[in-house]
Amino acid sequence: MPLQEQLAAKLCELSGLTNVFFCSTGLEANEAALKIARKFGHDKGIERPEIVVYERAFHGRSIATLSATGNPKVQAGFGPLVEGFPRVPLNDVGAIEKLAATNPNIVAVFLEVIQGEGGINPASVDYLRAVRKLCDDKGWLLMLDEVQCGIGRTGKWFAHQWAGIRPDVMPLAKGLGSGVPVGAVVCGPRAANVLGPGNHGTTFGGNPLAMRAGVETLRIMEEDGLLANAERVGAALKAGLQRELAGVAGVVEIRGQGLMLGIELARPCGELLGRAAQAGLMISVTADKVVRPVPPLILSEDEAAQIVALLCPLIKAFLAEPAN
Ligand SMILES: Cc1ncc(COP(=O)(O)O)c(C=O)c1O
Repeated sequence: MPLQEQLAAKLCELSGLTNVFFCSTGLEANEAALKIARKFGHDKGIERPEIVVYERAFHGRSIATLSATGNPKVQAGFGPLVEGFPRVPLNDVGAIEKLAATNPNIVAVFLEVIQGEGGINPASVDYLRAVRKLCDDKGWLLMLDEVQCGIGRTGKWFAHQWAGIRPDVMPLAKGLGSGVPVGAVVCGPRAANVLGPGNHGTTFGGNPLAMRAGVETLRIMEEDGLLANAERVGAALKAGLQRELAGVAGVVEIRGQGLMLGIELARPCGELLGRAAQAGLMISVTADKVVRPVPPLILSEDEAAQIVALLCPLIKAFLAEPAN
């Protein structure tokens, strides 16, 4: 079977969805999703279709995806932004229901199952189910950006699977190619036939190197049991962080799932990056105050224990210092 078909078939098998468009990056996958939603609306006769997006969301750095992003820093200097993105807070069913009752132009809801750049903010299982139901009731598309939280990171292939729901549109990238640029938009029946020949495309989408990287990534992840590893080692890492940081003043919350975790501190902590690097640990800090360990899915429990042993003293020492 040609490589494109192999990878598409595998993604459909893993997601329960039916069709795949290939591209090269996360923002490109999200652009395609946004175009699907807009065209879906136009096909229904809605002239100015709107897509519900979220506070603190991150969807990429193209003009449309940065407009959908909920972070003024990402948008600053690049206006005018693309319109048609009403914004709601995450996990607030009332807010989206209110919007649904007042805005007849909505055609889709677009969210990360766990907001990554926004500070590791998980959409709750109840919220995901409520939004799925709302989309069904209203005939909207549910579009889940799994660029960061998908491909095994939370211990399931796709983070929304913890809620037992299916999206209509799911952009993927990052982990799909193990470092080789591969993006994909996986669609279910409601969205699969919205774009026809000539509506969308990209030169490098589905190239043989990218497809081979995707096929082998998923094969190795399955053979090596990396989903179970992410779940088990992620739980150990979270428990270790919770144990070592319990009761430490200035630690607001430890959250996330599998190997996608965030430690929110009470104050900006960007300087921890350099200190951690000096201690031999690569971390990232996001949303100013959230230390975000997102280690590789091959992490062992020993290595998780090393992260805890290196990171927690750094955080404690940092929080013990007077704020600048
Ligand atoms: C949730 C999410 N969507 C989209 C993107 C953009 O992906 P890319 O950098 O491949 O364009 C990112 C990147 O961090 C992301 O975290």
